[in-house]
Amino acid sequence: MSESKIMPALDKEITAFIQECRTKAHPESYLIAVLHRVQGKYGYLSEEHMNEVAQRLQVPTSTVSGVATFYHFFRLQPQGKYNISICLGTACFVKGADKVLEAFKNELGIEMGETTQDGLFSLENSRCLGVCALAPVVTINEKVYSKVTPTQVPELIRTAREGSED
Ligand code: FES
Repeated sequence: MSESKIMPALDKEITAFIQECRTKAHPESYLIAVLHRVQGKYGYLSEEHMNEVAQRLQVPTSTVSGVATFYHFFRLQPQGKYNISICLGTACFVKGADKVLEAFKNELGIEMGETTQDGLFSLENSRCLGVCALAPVVTINEKVYSKVTPTQVPELIRTAREGSED
């Protein structure tokens, strides 16, 4: 397909970056960098975004969606009203952040990078937040929760849900 027929889902800044990548020796090696920019701009990677990246960078759509689904830091759905982020840095991990993450997954019925159907909650992880003494650390939007245990997870979700009803 010629570029003039593309229905633009991406803004000029990103299309200019892709165009710049196309002038390099291996444009396809910039795919992750391009997807990062798209997610940085729009918050997630929609099917339209990925299709346009594929067309403009001239890589197969299956490659783009394969990369987007392989790396958990890419989000394929818009963020929920409450973005729950579990720190998986070393100190938090050692103190059981993986079990806290499992509890959130079970409680919400979603995987990392997904959003609940009601659009309320999304789940992601973060690197060290620099407050290791508080490990394991969870943030829900801007609010920081310290020394979180799996048993506290239902309560954290309930509190957030009740807050959304105000
Ligand atoms: S590892 Fe989680 S805050 Fe440092």
